[in-house]
Amino acid sequence: MITTPVDDFVRAYADSGIVRAHMPGHKGRGEGPERWDITEMTGADSLYEADGIILESEENAARLFGSGLTCYSAEGSSLSIRAMLLLALRRAQRPGERPWLLAGRNAHRTLLSAAALLDFDIRWISNAECGMRSAESDHVIGSNNSEFRIPNSEFGCGLLSSSMNVSALDEALSRAETLPFAVYLTSPDYLGGVVDIRAAAEICHAHGVILLVDNAHGAYLRFLPESRHPLDLGADMCADSAHKTLPALTGAGYLHVSKRLADITRADVKAAMSVFASTSPSYLILASLDRCNRLLEREFPGQLATFARRMDLMKEHLEEAGVVLTGDEPIKLTIRATRAADGHMIQRLLQERGIECEMADPDFVTLMLAPCQLDQMDTIERPLLDTAGYWAGQPVRIPPALPSPGERVMTIREAMLSPQETLPLSQCEGRVLASDTTGCPPAVPIAVCGERLTEETIELCRYYGLKTLRVAKLR
Ligand SMILES: Cc1ncc(COP(=O)(O)O)c(C=O)c1O
Repeated sequence: MITTPVDDFVRAYADSGIVRAHMPGHKGRGEGPERWDITEMTGADSLYEADGIILESEENAARLFGSGLTCYSAEGSSLSIRAMLLLALRRAQRPGERPWLLAGRNAHRTLLSAAALLDFDIRWISNAECGMRSAESDHVIGSNNSEFRIPNSEFGCGLLSSSMNVSALDEALSRAETLPFAVYLTSPDYLGGVVDIRAAAEICHAHGVILLVDNAHGAYLRFLPESRHPLDLGADMCADSAHKTLPALTGAGYLHVSKRLADITRADVKAAMSVFASTSPSYLILASLDRCNRLLEREFPGQLATFARRMDLMKEHLEEAGVVLTGDEPIKLTIRATRAADGHMIQRLLQERGIECEMADPDFVTLMLAPCQLDQMDTIERPLLDTAGYWAGQPVRIPPALPSPGERVMTIREAMLSPQETLPLSQCEGRVLASDTTGCPPAVPIAVCGERLTEETIELCRYYGLKTLRVAKLR
């Protein structure tokens, strides 16, 4: 049976009446969760040197996820992603070679900050369905270093979707003169797009490269009746945000290492995480991850299976009403906006009916739902069906194509470390992008820092509602 040693410790301490002559400054007093907000005192263990209750809890999580090793993050997947990349980089370091990563273009901005911190290059694998306007033409997208020709199709997902053609991955690895230190995929993505991780892993392993997955949106996939978690499909390391899809507090995350990477030790993972992490991880978050283990062992899988069936039913009802959906994720609902209502209008329609969505942009609206909301499914479905008569059944909006990248002038690191200024979009053409350009959410970079900004890129920034960009100062 799964224990909850961190939660038990925190509760016992809160009830003990011990005088808190240690951090934090609230001393357990206050009107919020202060009682349970503790620090690394005797018996509480220490996240980055865990050998007590945190170790026990992480080992519980590893058993639940079937990993070789699972370590907690109290700073979301952002921390796990940086640590995962550092671990992969160290493992494949070849003296004299500049390290590079082969990555799906729909990556979260954290990948770029990791590239700046760790000073590696990125070459992009194109999405199979990225920004299509015509079914006939082929479209070349990617960084200056990538040139994978991907057929267009009619219903593009812009730069957000991970519907990647895995043959492009094989082609990229076969053509590469030196191997990347890893392949990095984002799956699921914000729209619920899921990559064929099993096929991608087979390709990576055949080339002798490890596969890292940003699974921030997919921790729950492990607990479906048949696991669809990337680790079970062949990924070598995964960063999961517990807080996005599991019953855990914001900031709760995991870094999982598969059993195949037996050369990576817990000490290696902890050392990698502590390079980037705060030395004061939140025990509220650690206790939440600990309690989550018990739910994952007991009621969560059953609730998830029931909820996924109810989601299927809702999707069927919406499609019957003419709503066009996208994505393959069981508990995410992504609606294609139409000519009659863009994503922001659909978002407002739902807000007026008491529903707040996860994300809306001109082309999509994403609702992230969870098994604990089974009782709210009618409340969510009804307004969508009530308003669908007005906007559904219309031609869907096609997101703009991802522009060809501008000339690469600096590495990502050089650009991020360069003196910078913020300029209105109208003054950015020809300047070098120095910081990431994203709408948040979904925080997928529209252009990559170090590239010269083109008119097309600036137009796309405008489309996604950006008003200014950070560019390198002219010398
Ligand atoms: C695809 C993706 N990866 C990584 C992250 C970062 O996750 P976290 O907020 O848990 O740090 C996000 C956040 O939204 C995301 O959408």
